[in-house]
Amino acid sequence: MQKILLSGVKPTGRSHIGNYFGAMKQWLTLQDEHQCFLFIADYHSLNFIQNREEMNQNILDLALDYLAIGLDPEKVTIFKQSDVSEHTELAWIFDTITTMPYLKRAHAFKDAEAKEKEISVGTFNYPMLMASDILLYSPHVVPVGQDQKQHVEITRDTAEKFNHIFGKEVFNMPEPMILGEVAVVPGIDGQKMSKSYGNTIPLFATDEEIKKQVMAIVTDSSSEIPKNVYAIHALIKPKEELDALYEANKGKYKALKDALTEDLIAFITPMRERRKAFENDIEKVKEILKKGGEKAKIVAAKKMEEVREAIGVSL
Ligand code: ADP
Ligand code: TRP
Repeated sequence: MQKILLSGVKPTGRSHIGNYFGAMKQWLTLQDEHQCFLFIADYHSLNFIQNREEMNQNILDLALDYLAIGLDPEKVTIFKQSDVSEHTELAWIFDTITTMPYLKRAHAFKDAEAKEKEISVGTFNYPMLMASDILLYSPHVVPVGQDQKQHVEITRDTAEKFNHIFGKEVFNMPEPMILGEVAVVPGIDGQKMSKSYGNTIPLFATDEEIKKQVMAIVTDSSSEIPKNVYAIHALIKPKEELDALYEANKGKYKALKDALTEDLIAFITPMRERRKAFENDIEKVKEILKKGGEKAKIVAAKKMEEVREAIGVSL
C-alpha cells in the first residue's frame, strides 16, 4: 500500500523560495510514491487575514502555486481546509483534552507573547487545528520546514493523549520530514526568509523583482564569500559548480549577485509559464479544489466517525 503524505501552507501572501525549498519541493519528488493530501490552510490564515478580497486572492494564488510547481491534480488531492468541516470539529475535541499550560509552551505563542502582541484565541489554539488537519488523514509523513517541527510533535502528543484517554488506537503517529540541508532558507536580510519579515524572494517574482531583491541581500564585508548570497545560490546550483564560481569571484559581490539573479530567473521561468496557463483558466483551478475537497471529505468523515464512536457521542 502507498504511504500517505499530508502537508499544507497558509494562504497569507505570496509564496517565496523559502516555502518552496523548505516544503513544497519535497512534495513534488514524493507525489509519485505517496498518496498525497496537500491543502490550503485558509482557516489558519484567518488569524492573520481578515478581509474577504484578500482571503479570496490568497487562496487562489496558493492554488496556482501548487499547480505551477508541478503538482499533478490527478495524483494529488489538493483542497481547501475550509471545505472539510471535520478539521474544525476535531480541533474542538482536541481543545477539550489539552491544557492551557501545555499550549503556552508552543513557540508561536511564546513569540507572540514576547512581542507583547494581542493574541487571539485562534492563534493560541493554532496547534490543535493543525493536529486535526494532520490526524484526520492518518499520514505516515508530514513534510514541513524546521519551524513546524514542534507543531508535529504537539500533534503526536495529542494523538497519544486521545488514544490513551479513550482507550482506543484511533490515531497513528505521524513523522515530520525535514530536509536537513535546506531546513532554513535565509531571507535577504540573513534572518529566516518569511512573509512576515518582508525579506523574501517571491517564488513567482518578475525578473525585475528578482534583480532588486538579490541586489538587496545583506553581505558581510569581512568575508570574501557573501554567506547569504551563497546560501540561496546553493539551493539551485550543484555544489561543485557553485564552489568553483565563488572561488573564481572571491570578494566580487556584484558579479556573484548577478550570477545568482541569472540562475534564479532560469530556475523560475518554466514554473512561471505553467502558472500563467492556469491563471488563464481559473474555473479549472476552482474545479480542482472542489473535487479535492470532496475526496478529502470522504477520508476525514470516516475518521470522524471513529472519533465520535470513541468519545461516546454516537449512539
Ligand atoms: P512564512 O514564514 O513565510 O509565513 P509559512 O509559515 O507560511 O511561511 O510556511 C509555509 C511552509 O514553508 C512551512 O512548511 C514552513 O516550514 C516552510 N518555510 C517557511 N519559511 C521557510 C524558510 N525560510 N526556510 C525553509 N522553510 C520555510
Ligand atoms: N502551520 C503550518 C505553517 O505555518 C501550516 C499548516 C497548517 C500545516 N496545518 C498543517 C502544515 C498541517 C502541515 C500539516 O506553515
